[in-house]
Amino acid sequence: MRILVTGGAGFIGSHLAKRLLEAGHKVIVVDDLSTGSRDNVPEGAELLVLDLSRPESLSRLPDDVAAVCHLAAQSAGAVSAEQPYYDLMANAGSTLLLSRWCLERGIGRFVYASSMAVYGDEVESPVGEDARCVPKSYYGASKLAAEHVLRLAAPEGLNVTVFRIFTAYGPGQNLRNLKQGMVSIYLAYLLRGVAVPVTGSLDRFRDLIYVDDVVEAWRRAVETRATPRLVYNLGTGRGTTVRELLQALARACDLPADHPVEELPGSPSDQFGLFADVSAVSFDLDVAPPTRLEDGLQRMVSWATAGVASRVTSAMLCLYGPGNASWVSRSARGMRTTPSSNSTIRPSKPASA
Ligand SMILES: NC(=O)c1ccc[n+]([C@@H]2O[C@H](COP(=O)([O-])OP(=O)(O)OC[C@H]3O[C@@H](n4cnc5c(N)ncnc54)[C@H](O)[C@@H]3O)[C@@H](O)[C@H]2O)c1
Repeated sequence: MRILVTGGAGFIGSHLAKRLLEAGHKVIVVDDLSTGSRDNVPEGAELLVLDLSRPESLSRLPDDVAAVCHLAAQSAGAVSAEQPYYDLMANAGSTLLLSRWCLERGIGRFVYASSMAVYGDEVESPVGEDARCVPKSYYGASKLAAEHVLRLAAPEGLNVTVFRIFTAYGPGQNLRNLKQGMVSIYLAYLLRGVAVPVTGSLDRFRDLIYVDDVVEAWRRAVETRATPRLVYNLGTGRGTTVRELLQALARACDLPADHPVEELPGSPSDQFGLFADVSAVSFDLDVAPPTRLEDGLQRMVSWATAGVASRVTSAMLCLYGPGNASWVSRSARGMRTTPSSNSTIRPSKPASA
């Protein structure tokens, strides 16, 4: 099958492109490289550099594709607060344009990357797909708007599957982008050996899903003509507090569990915590049990430390200046750091799930 993967120069999209190529599909990646990178696009995939929020870009897309996997998005909560119009156009605007483009060309299959951000905080965990959605951020609002656009396109002939992805992590996550990706942000600071800035409570929790598990569900969905439901949660069904995550990451980096953290005030648009009811995706797509958090983090840390000089140093040089660069290679070998802040990762409260 020829499949268009938008956002395929980004974290999840590049893993998906690779997985689809391995499964024997042809992949065309479309990405504006705003946060993604050419280097992420797997060998064997074609790359088209286009901004999908602009109507004129659509005429440059190949229309001999059988399916569209739409992952291109502005995906940072902080950016959505600073630039909500940009966020809405990149997320909901692009989805409207692409879904109409598919309908006009008879392209029948559309799989979309929505987010747990659509739920907001007014629901209980484990949250089911039928729960009320009251997003707390412009990012969540733009994802929910995109979902509604696709709900309207479905009866017109578009076979839509929406994945509400919880918090994905794994190798390939952008360690230079310190505005997006809870696990990658914390890891970038841990590898540098400095206090980890944590905005909001250490008791907040997330449903952390390993990227391979995310893209396997996507592969199964795109290879199916239609799924029984339009919307699926894509998580693990387990909550992990920020404190537990930091401790697990420190262990994976071979750093002391009491590595310093810098507790900062939270953002009003940040969700306190949710984990997913994953019964629908498990049943309909027959996905395997999720990767254990410890195993996933270990793989991510191995990847990050293998390329630490190129990936982390440049990000941290921007933050702290060139004087501190030598720590990176020492931390990659697992040496201890001197606490640089008066707060540490204290023992956990009981797990949230
Ligand atoms: N990573 C997560 O935990 C998570 C959780 C929930 C939902 N999602 C969603 O999954 C998708 C992929 O997330 P990710 O973590 O890989 O993000 P990412 O930022 O790494 O990838 C997004 C890609 O989209 C591209 N892009 C942005 N705006 C574009 C535009 N207007 N036109 C074309 N390309 C554009 C970027 O350059 C980037 O390569 C996004 O839609 C995101 O909102 C991610």
